[in-house]
Amino acid sequence: MASILLGVTGGIAAYKACEVLRLFDKAGHRVRVVMTRTATEFVGPLTFETLSKAPVLTDARPLGEQGSILHIEYADEADVFVIAPCTANVIAKLAQGVADDALSTTALAFTGPVLIAPAMNVNMWHSAPVQGNLEILRKRGMHVVEPSSGDLACGWVGEGRLAEPPEIVEAVLKVLDARKDLARLRILVSAGPTQEKLDPVRFISNRSSGKMGYAVVEAARARGASVTLVSGPVALTKPPGVTVLPVESAMEMKSAMDSRMAEADVVIMAAAVADYRAAAPSDRKIKKDAFEVSISLVRTDDILAGLGKAKRADQVLVGFAAETNDVLAYAGDKLKRKNADLFVANDVSRTDIGFSADENEVHLLFADGRAEKVEKAPKRKIANAILDAVKALHAAKSGRGSDTDRSR
Ligand code: CTP
Repeated sequence: MASILLGVTGGIAAYKACEVLRLFDKAGHRVRVVMTRTATEFVGPLTFETLSKAPVLTDARPLGEQGSILHIEYADEADVFVIAPCTANVIAKLAQGVADDALSTTALAFTGPVLIAPAMNVNMWHSAPVQGNLEILRKRGMHVVEPSSGDLACGWVGEGRLAEPPEIVEAVLKVLDARKDLARLRILVSAGPTQEKLDPVRFISNRSSGKMGYAVVEAARARGASVTLVSGPVALTKPPGVTVLPVESAMEMKSAMDSRMAEADVVIMAAAVADYRAAAPSDRKIKKDAFEVSISLVRTDDILAGLGKAKRADQVLVGFAAETNDVLAYAGDKLKRKNADLFVANDVSRTDIGFSADENEVHLLFADGRAEKVEKAPKRKIANAILDAVKALHAAKSGRGSDTDRSR
């Protein structure tokens, strides 16, 4: 599932952007929308908000639901930015780096591939400034989905009609395909909490939302990896194109991970596995009057440590450490003890990152002692940073040397 940012600018063809969004959605991709002020006069943001099930970024609405700065959040999360329709004015702004509204600011903040699907009057399309600006954009690597020829809304006949939605979608998917840098990798990921049964209605669990693990799964899928997700109970939608094995307890998670380990190139333990389970869960609901104050607990198996022992030399094993203090020291120790290649450490004492938050800030600790800080960003961007590190580790292990392609 790719994360697509759709820019809509002010032309009559703006209504066709709804169909573009719908086609991406039908293909299982996640779409976020940014509109210029004029675009909102042609089609209301509510239409796009309903279709994308997310806030639409406009000049009038620069912030997300939790106060996040949407132009940075959407730019950071997206795998590709497509502007359809794109007016002559926005083409000029992109060429010159003008950032005077929500859409052009987002474009400057976005570092991935950009496609534009121009739509305008035939004479505007052929004008020297427009063609000159397009030349600048093409040289910069921007993709142009050429307009078609036909009846134009202005009454003229000729080139300038927005390419048809399926053609725009196909062009975007082609660009994404070319960036599938993890296409040969088989990745096994665990995510979410585990639930350890006390009786048929009660359990021990933790506050993990599964968001970080799911972000890794979605990013890996978007980059072409073949992904198996072993998921504890979470309130997130099943990512499309991924084999999902739902589990509840640590024991079930261990058996799912152990049985799939051999066929994976990379194993990522993002799950927050409960460390304890009831020694003897009751088959019947424990009644208040019979309830002892103390419940006897035993340790669950350490799944990651087991995977570390079974690890082949060509496999990359990644663990996560949630700490409240001495983050690097504790995480470094876990990395060694569990024979992992990489540990992702985050500080869960902060409320703005980790657990249920949409953003995270982590340190990547490598087995050779290197440490890298990944600055606070949406979990999708953090996921891509983790995958960049995984990709380099896998390349080094499989004898292809350290991969320096960090173009994402
Ligand atoms: N892990 C596991 N099996 C467990 C517990 C944890 O596989 N029974 C994995 C987690 O998925 C994570 C890493 O181990 O990748 C976390 O290590 P751990 O030592 O359990 O860290 P914390 O849960 O933070 O534990 P501690 O209470 O020791 O800080």
